[in-house]
Amino acid sequence: MRLHQCCNFDDFRELARRRLPGPIFDYIDGGADDETTLRRNAASFDDCDLVPNILRGVRDIDLSVTVMGQKLAMPFYCSPTALQRLFHYDGERAVAAAAAKYGTMFGVSSLGTISLEELRSAHDTPQVFQLYFHRDRGLNRAMMARAKHAGVQVMMLTVDSITGGNRERDLRTGFTIPFRLTLAGMLQFAIKPAWVIQYATHERFRLPQLDKHVDMGRGTMSVGRYFTEMLDPAMDWDDVTEMVKTWNGPFCLKGVMSREDAIKAADIGCAGIILSNHGGRQLDGSRSAFDQLAEIVDAVGDRIDVIMDGGIQRGTHILKALSLGAKAVGVGRYYLYPLAAAGQVGVERALGLLKAELERDMRLLGFTRIDQLSRGNLRFRHPSSPLQQADVPR
Ligand code: FNR
Repeated sequence: MRLHQCCNFDDFRELARRRLPGPIFDYIDGGADDETTLRRNAASFDDCDLVPNILRGVRDIDLSVTVMGQKLAMPFYCSPTALQRLFHYDGERAVAAAAAKYGTMFGVSSLGTISLEELRSAHDTPQVFQLYFHRDRGLNRAMMARAKHAGVQVMMLTVDSITGGNRERDLRTGFTIPFRLTLAGMLQFAIKPAWVIQYATHERFRLPQLDKHVDMGRGTMSVGRYFTEMLDPAMDWDDVTEMVKTWNGPFCLKGVMSREDAIKAADIGCAGIILSNHGGRQLDGSRSAFDQLAEIVDAVGDRIDVIMDGGIQRGTHILKALSLGAKAVGVGRYYLYPLAAAGQVGVERALGLLKAELERDMRLLGFTRIDQLSRGNLRFRHPSSPLQQADVPR
């Protein structure tokens, strides 16, 4: 299969699988423990059906939304993900450029491989900086000041990763940064020489958001140890309240799942929350964001922007989430596989396909603007779902 033949998520995934050394593919593809949550994330959308309307005059479709004060041309954005230059030598450069082409927001991870400043100055589209909470409060403040100085619009604190998830695929292959592969893992690199040559002939792998603070390049600190030794599991609401004040701009928490936490996030002045289980990579058995969405929208949807990620593979998934009350959705693997398959052109193709799906699906559903979507378009298959009689407009 070639890039121009890729029509959907599974096609891009297959192309990425062929191109990447096994341990890297598994790092993207895998989840925690038994990967129950990972599977549920995508499956949860199938428990909900769309009910289309007809004859509504749907020639011109406007997909734009405003989320956390940022105007996006489409209701989905590229969620921050780590280590992108392992997947393709252009890494975040490719993703940011593709997101900018489609007028949407992109996230830069603390574990990103291109500096947030370079990406900020390359594009005008809104940029998120994703931060983990370090034991060293000075480091947290310094990273926020750096992002503010660079002109980053949205600060996103990931709160579901105070310790690393149990990713057993990575344990088997020995995947970690710096590489410490098992023999079987090394063999899987040897059979992908094209990847090895491209990796070796491009600029040195770095983690520029962190490399002034953490020496990962020379092997004294691994990404695994970064999570266990530098991040602070004692982080609490007082810490985050202070960060929201310090940032003094749109601030969101990524990884909120419970009603109580959503209410607290609204109380301390967050502009938004991302309902997320980190793509099934942290707490296995955690509920899917889509399953939890209605409860959270009902609790805080009139006070802050509720956003979700996890399992988005189709335009219809996005329409279901927006109909339930999400203001936008994030995608992760949806852009990572095409990045691995073909760099910027791959990500552009994937984002373009998802946008075209959304436009087509909006027409077929009978709407021209995102704010026309409501729970009236949805029916849940499970008879006990509280939304079974969901005809309440949001
Ligand atoms: C992630 N994600 C993530 N989240 C975050 O806050 N900081 C990070 O550095 C990363 N890194 C990362 C790496 C990889 C390989 C993946 C797959 C995911 C989580 C990401 O932002 C998002 O929440 C999920 O990817 C959404 O699920 P889907 O779209 O991948 O199903």
